[in-house]
This record gives sequence, structure tokens and C-alpha cells, in this order.
Amino acid sequence: MATLTTERVLSVHHWNDTLFSFTTTRDAGLRFINGQFVMIGLMVNGKPLIRAYSIVSANWEENLEFFSIKVQDGPLTSRLQHLKVGDEIVVSGKPTGTLVQDNLLPGKNLYLFSTGTGLAPFMSIIKDPEVYDLYEKIVLVHGVRWVSELAYEDYITRELPDNEFFGEVVREKLIYYPTVTREPYRNQGRLTDLIVSGKLCSDIGLPQLNPEHDRALLCGSPAMLEDTCRILDNLGFKESPRMGEPGDYAIERAFVEK
Ligand code: A2P
Repeated sequence: MATLTTERVLSVHHWNDTLFSFTTTRDAGLRFINGQFVMIGLMVNGKPLIRAYSIVSANWEENLEFFSIKVQDGPLTSRLQHLKVGDEIVVSGKPTGTLVQDNLLPGKNLYLFSTGTGLAPFMSIIKDPEVYDLYEKIVLVHGVRWVSELAYEDYITRELPDNEFFGEVVREKLIYYPTVTREPYRNQGRLTDLIVSGKLCSDIGLPQLNPEHDRALLCGSPAMLEDTCRILDNLGFKESPRMGEPGDYAIERAFVEK
């Protein structure tokens, strides 16, 4: 059994009826690469009930942050959604995962394609000053059904560009492209359709996706991953086959855990 640490909840934010985020204390020994996930959960009847969660916070931050769905009959999230400041969670094992910049070959533009809670690992990555050194543009695409699911929009568009240490490079390089599928919004439609039609790249003023200059990380539902991988493969992108063997893109399933 991996070592369990107990962490204390420091804040809870409910985005809407189905999504919430929370921050916790961080064990001094917990090291991770931005984009990785860790197992977290609750002690239930003396046993740990844990699931994989991408870490939203960056590795330089003092606390841990997580982004979760709420499933009313889900074994873990039905309980987790009632977390209050001061409650305890358990964090288990060593952070791991493939959605890390090290899994990509050098490139000019980095695309972060996410749907739903698949945004979580990319929050960590867009807070990593080193990633900005490696690319000319970082394009964060977040696809959701409803406007209320555009979590972190304010942080991405206001707080991060104002960061006293690297806000300037964020303003210069980060392009945020939220898109909504089930109600009116300034950007509409599935990110897959926006890639294929060319609308995404023309909207943001970049050349159409091409493995010669673009790299991508993908995080979403199994269906989103399957469709997006197929599109990238058809454009000639090569997936990183495993950790430590870089490619033009890398994927990880969003942890839609219950
Ligand atoms: P849609 O509303 O057309 O289903 P979900 O909550 O089901 O994971 O969906 C999150 C977002 O991802 C929604 O905007 C949804 O669009 C979109 N989506 C669902 N399946 C795919 C897919 N296969 N490719 C791209 N986007 C998808």
C-alpha cells in the first residue's frame, strides 16, 4: 500500500451544481511535474476510498488544488462534494501521468485541448513559467456543454496575466479559447469540429495545425480523446508512445470518477 498522507481542506469553491474545486495543505515531501495526477480521497469506515485526480496547482505552489465533478450516487464524489474547510482528505502514492511537457518534441505552439474536468492538468501547465520559455504561443482550448462549466475563466483571463512574476509572458503567449456546445456563447461547437473546419486556428490567428510547428496535449472523455487523436493522426501528428519517448502529442483521460 502506498503511503497515505492526511491533508486539511483550506478552501472549497462550487462552480455550479455539477462542478467544484478545493484546495488542501501539501505535504512537504510531495513532488510532482506540472500536468501529473495523484490518488486522493477519504477514509470511509477505516479504509481509504481514493481516485485519480489531476493536480490543478503548479509544483511551485504551497497548497494542492483539485477540480471535481459531483455525482450524486458516486461513491467518492457524493461525499467529496460536501467537503468543508478544516475537513481532512487523504493523498496517496507518487504523482504520475503522461500529460507533461517532457513528453513532447520541441515545437513552436503548444495546444492544450480539454473538455470538462480535463481542464485540470492544463491549469497546472499554464502556471509553469518554464513552459512559456519553450513555446511562442500556448493555446488552451476548453470545451464544455454550458457556460457555467467554464471553470477558472476569471483566473485564466484576469489573475494569471496579472501574476507579478510571469504575467507579462502570459499576456504575450497564452491564448484561451473556451467553447460551449449547448447554449449561445462567443465560441460555439465541439473542439473537434472547430479543428476540422479550421475555425479554431483562424479565430486565434495561427496557421492551421501542422506537426511541423505544433504540439498538443489532450485531456477529456474517452470519446473526445478518440476523435481528437484521429484528427491529429490524419494531420500527420505522432503520439508519444510512452512516458520518456516524446512525440508530437500526448493524451490522458480526464478522470471522470465517481
Ligand atoms: P456536446 O455537448 O456536443 O456533447 P461531456 O460533459 O459529455 O464530457 O462533454 C464536455 C464537452 O465535450 C461538451 O461540450 C461536449 O459536446 C464535448 N464532447 C463530447 N464528446 C466529444 C467528442 N467526441 N469530441 C469532442 N468534443 C466532445
